[in-house]
Amino acid sequence: MARKKIALIGSGMIGGTLAHLAAIKELGDIVLFDIAEGTPQGKALDIAQSGPVEGFDANLKGANSYEDIAGADVCIVTAGIPRKPGMSRDDLLKTNLGVMKAVGEGIAAHAPDAFVICITNPLDAMVWALREFSGLPHQKVVGMAGVLDSARFRHFLAEEFNVSVEDVTAFVLGGHGDTMVPVIEYSTVAGIPVPDLIKMGWSTQERIDAIVARTRSGGGEIVGLLKTGSAFYAPATSAIAMAESYLKDKKRLLPCAAHLTGQYGVDDLYVGVPIVIGKDGVERIVEIELNATAKQNFDVSVDAVKELVAACKSIDSSLA
Ligand code: APR
Repeated sequence: MARKKIALIGSGMIGGTLAHLAAIKELGDIVLFDIAEGTPQGKALDIAQSGPVEGFDANLKGANSYEDIAGADVCIVTAGIPRKPGMSRDDLLKTNLGVMKAVGEGIAAHAPDAFVICITNPLDAMVWALREFSGLPHQKVVGMAGVLDSARFRHFLAEEFNVSVEDVTAFVLGGHGDTMVPVIEYSTVAGIPVPDLIKMGWSTQERIDAIVARTRSGGGEIVGLLKTGSAFYAPATSAIAMAESYLKDKKRLLPCAAHLTGQYGVDDLYVGVPIVIGKDGVERIVEIELNATAKQNFDVSVDAVKELVAACKSIDSSLA
């Protein structure tokens, strides 16, 4: 069986980490694409040279031309500028919208059958714009946010309960950003919901509220510490989980930014919801019941995404 082909559009901090992970997991041959000359080629060579030690077989290639992504099975998009300290996600909108146009057209021309995972921020607006610019089917274009946000929530919960992260499941819905909605009723330790664990004395509502707040500002916390960039290890791992579910038809149920057509009362918008990812891309959008507070928070989050998409439409009239 021929190897799959994974194209990484953007070869910065997340792009390089994606390439390393995809190679170690032998997901396929890898093309690192970037507008910066030398960066993708250098990273491809460096990672390829880790192959003999790690024991993986994968061809790695650096590229500055979209022709090199031809026929990719998966494209993971990180191209753009990352958020700097003090910069809001919205500040990124204008620059990254222009990048999404170039990337969307490149994918449409050279890899129209790919499953596309967008990571570039502000995520929910960028994935929507990328889909518009590429014209690919909606079920083949998704955004990575929920897996990362849930992973942050799971990490903090595992620390709080002093249990393995493996046994902590968590759900974070809504837009990626300060309005994301961690849903504690659907967050569990081996199936025991967090509210029950509070009743059992494992934690208190106040401590869980603090964890929810920390999860919401999880990206900003890392930006503040790194000072020169944003998180890249956990974002890359999260996107690889999504790519693997598609490539291996695993049908994992993961929170991702998906195109909604009436689900959760939302139409023609990308918002973080649970989806099943398999060989057809987004195979199912899962509508879970939200309590009144979660629904209210979800709606606030959706409004924030709507505002960003409206701003995109006013910047680029071809999107209106
Ligand atoms: N086409 C291709 N690559 C581009 C383009 C473009 N039009 N514009 C910029 N790039 C490249 C840059 O040259 C850089 O190598 O995108 C890469 C971005 O890498 P980093 O700056 O290291 O950013 P990274 O930390 O990888 O984050 C990428 O993901 O989480 C989000 O907010 C983050 O939007 C940011 C993205």
